[in-house]
Amino acid sequence: MKVLIVGNGGREHALAWKVKQSPLVKKLYVAKGNAGIWQIAEKVDISPTDIPSLVEFAKKEKIDLTIVGPEQPLSEGIVDAFEEANLKIFGHKKSSSILEASKVYAKNFMKKYGIPTAFYETFDKEEEAILFVKKMGTPIVIKADGLAAGKGVIIAYTEEEAIETIKDMFAGKFGEASKRIVIEEFLEGEEASYIAMVKDDKLVPMATSQDHKRVFDNDKGPNTGGMGAYSPAPVITPEIEKQILEKIMYPTLKGMIKEGKPLSGFLYAGLMIGPKGINVLEFNVRMGDPETQPIMRRLESDLVQHILDILEGNIDKVKPVWSDKYSIGVVLASKGYPGKYEKGKVITGIQEAEKDPDIVVFHSGTDIKDGKLITAGGRVLTVTAIGDTLLEAKEKVYKAIEKIHFEGMHYRKDIGDKGIKRLYYS
Ligand code: AMP
Ligand code: GLY
Repeated sequence: MKVLIVGNGGREHALAWKVKQSPLVKKLYVAKGNAGIWQIAEKVDISPTDIPSLVEFAKKEKIDLTIVGPEQPLSEGIVDAFEEANLKIFGHKKSSSILEASKVYAKNFMKKYGIPTAFYETFDKEEEAILFVKKMGTPIVIKADGLAAGKGVIIAYTEEEAIETIKDMFAGKFGEASKRIVIEEFLEGEEASYIAMVKDDKLVPMATSQDHKRVFDNDKGPNTGGMGAYSPAPVITPEIEKQILEKIMYPTLKGMIKEGKPLSGFLYAGLMIGPKGINVLEFNVRMGDPETQPIMRRLESDLVQHILDILEGNIDKVKPVWSDKYSIGVVLASKGYPGKYEKGKVITGIQEAEKDPDIVVFHSGTDIKDGKLITAGGRVLTVTAIGDTLLEAKEKVYKAIEKIHFEGMHYRKDIGDKGIKRLYYS
């Protein structure tokens, strides 16, 4: 069969890498991809949000299955358009994607269905927002309503910082996305990502994982799209997983059906696990980036077969097989990221790093210029390693990174440490 993957990032490279291994797949396309994905899939020169052109391409090439990586095309209706054209696609409809596309919607939804989340209020007026901050005190979390590539969330530690953020947001710092904002209670604890493949009221869990949102070690500095992840996440014990399913995942599926917005695709709950229990920080209607990279390294069964079974109404049959090894993915970012960053730097050393069979390097923002591999985004590569223990995976991944170079490259040195601490020191 012919498969099309939509998206340009590290998540899509990891999905393409996995899809390519399926014996069902004869031909793999990517729209638009990056230099890493183009090594294993045919490049389709159409932007992930140019939905009419993607439909036309899929019809012409008789694509049997399309898998959507990022949120933007989902929230712009790619699934609705493909289904109207009788094309098979895995992802949520536009109406359901609002669970990620609007934080105001997601928070109100959680409140309505009793899904645990931080105490909050929503605002469209600066003065009221400032009054709320004064009443609540700091630290406090301020979120732009709309999609902002993981960067529309500010944790303010002082009242001045909070007021400045509110003013910036209403002045249009994130464009339309910050015309409305959510202000919520700051929650202590350890974050984890819980991702499942879902259809209506049923789900199949993916392996657990933990992302690292802040740019610097020890969770310092501004939020990013994610700087590294590992799987499984020891913070999600079997008991905690049971609670996540009972109190969060199933109520979300049922609630969305009641709202007339049934889910079908990947569902990602970003969680904070701490003194106030398990709370949802956000929902995403897609897989995480970089979580997908270590998760795909551990999936031993056929992702394509699983997706086909789900789309054909046989989700009960889907039983993914996970390696009992640990995997880690560390993001190598451009100088300046998550702020304004440099591009066009030559990347070297990937082949050298991949000489170790336990290492796979996934590309995010990369391109080819004059036959050379160059940086083309804020997050450039995710280096992944697999090991018998989390400690071994960590050692391997950082040894591999030493071989890779581009000017201004920066990355976190502590990916895996929270899990290691939990496994060995508690
Ligand atoms: P979100 O996009 O809503 O997941 O927020 C991005 C990141 O901001 C999260 O991954 C957390 O690291 C942090 N964050 C969001 N909400 C809160 C909160 N209520 N308390 C503490 N940290 C938060
Ligand atoms: N890694 C966080 C996200 O994909 O939203």
